[in-house]
Amino acid sequence: MPPPFQSLGNRHPSFLLRCCAPTNHNHHSSSLSAQRGNNIRVTMDRLTDAAHLMIVSDLDHTMVDHHDAENLSLLRFNALWEANYRNNSLLVFSTGRSPTLYKELRKEKPMLTPDITILSVGTEITYGNSMVPDNGWEEYLNHKWDRSIVTEETSMFSELKLQSETEQRPHKVSFYVQKDKARDITKALSTRLAERGLDVKIIYSGGMDLDILPQGAGKGQAMAYLLKKLKSKDKLPKNTLACGDSGNDAELFSIPDVYGVMVANAQEELLQWHAANAKDNPRIIHATGRCAAGIIEAIGHFNLGPNKSPRDVTGLLYSEGTGPAHKVVELYLFFEKWRRGEIDNTEATFAQINDFFCPSGILIHPSGVEKTLEDCVSSLKACYGDKKGTHFRVWVDQVIPTQLCSDSWLVRFKRWETSGEEQRHCCLTTILLTSKDAQCLKCGYVHQTLLDGLAKGSSSSTSFLFF
Ligand code: GLC
Ligand code: MG
Repeated sequence: MPPPFQSLGNRHPSFLLRCCAPTNHNHHSSSLSAQRGNNIRVTMDRLTDAAHLMIVSDLDHTMVDHHDAENLSLLRFNALWEANYRNNSLLVFSTGRSPTLYKELRKEKPMLTPDITILSVGTEITYGNSMVPDNGWEEYLNHKWDRSIVTEETSMFSELKLQSETEQRPHKVSFYVQKDKARDITKALSTRLAERGLDVKIIYSGGMDLDILPQGAGKGQAMAYLLKKLKSKDKLPKNTLACGDSGNDAELFSIPDVYGVMVANAQEELLQWHAANAKDNPRIIHATGRCAAGIIEAIGHFNLGPNKSPRDVTGLLYSEGTGPAHKVVELYLFFEKWRRGEIDNTEATFAQINDFFCPSGILIHPSGVEKTLEDCVSSLKACYGDKKGTHFRVWVDQVIPTQLCSDSWLVRFKRWETSGEEQRHCCLTTILLTSKDAQCLKCGYVHQTLLDGLAKGSSSSTSFLFF
């Protein structure tokens, strides 16, 4: 079987040996390597150079704040990422969740679509929107791993309560265990499994979850594997920022040359790990901000690029000289604030929107109905404050501008909208932006397609009308 990737750096030579170790899953190897090559290519195609920044972030209690019903820090991060980073950087989510629970979280929370998703505590790596699995990684994890021996040995420990079926994965066996018993059980289990010839890693997280994985797995190893894969394509990110809050994130902070942020609300077990292993490392901070606010804080602290979220900008909506992605983010923020009644309803405010649209331009609504942009803008005007006091939110995802010629861009993105718990819609939207003097972008065309598959609730209750 060929190694999962060809040229490796010399930082972890043992990793190379392990990648080459023979496995019993070597059939279809040529199609697998073709697919492997494609996986990374699909994700990296739009980046002509190395990523400016790669963020590798845990989800629960790091990117996603389960104590913030309004999801404000997540929405702030989303706007910052789409306006400034999407086009030249990589967003990687690294979660303990299985694909099933990950997809559930995506339906519940206003999350962006990552370029790469690392699932099940670094045992599954997938690329792109269709989440193409990295089979090479999973094959590598078979080394000294036998799930049935793990199940057999763990059944002898009555303190271990098996987690739900969805969370049991090919290279991950997961339990709940009380905090005061975790240390002793981990020790005893390690000894037993080693005696049975396995080489495993046992991780305790969130003061309750105990995961058993192959030794080569884990969030840190999965990130190291990705970094090497990118390096072999000459696309090692200029900077990488790891973000986490609990035990299974500790490994992320042990990978060399990576910045790290433990969010303000980090769990005791992670802080203890940090105190014992990394307290003098200036590349790792314990943020004062909770969850995504801590991530934004770290971007600023380490000088990794812009760290002012367009959501935090008050006053003038259209800052001079910002690019097409920034304009799109600002535009949809305007729609949200306008309909929530959070900006002044004055002629001057509205003039900014009016001036932005070419009146004779066309919008094609998901229903197929065509309207002039002038009509859309006047309908929007009448909607001022119609979502006041509701949970109405709008956010844009995967904003990708393509420059057509010196003065025009086609910008493609997903426009998400929620009115609260039950309704949620996603439109694949394309808009044409042109500029006479490169400073003043105007919109002349909007085309929306409803992505039903991603909608939560019935699409027939679609409440959005314009843009
Ligand atoms: C997620 C997973 C769970 C795992 C935990 C800690 O909650 O669903 O299986 O034990 O992360 O890694
Ligand atoms: Mg977490």
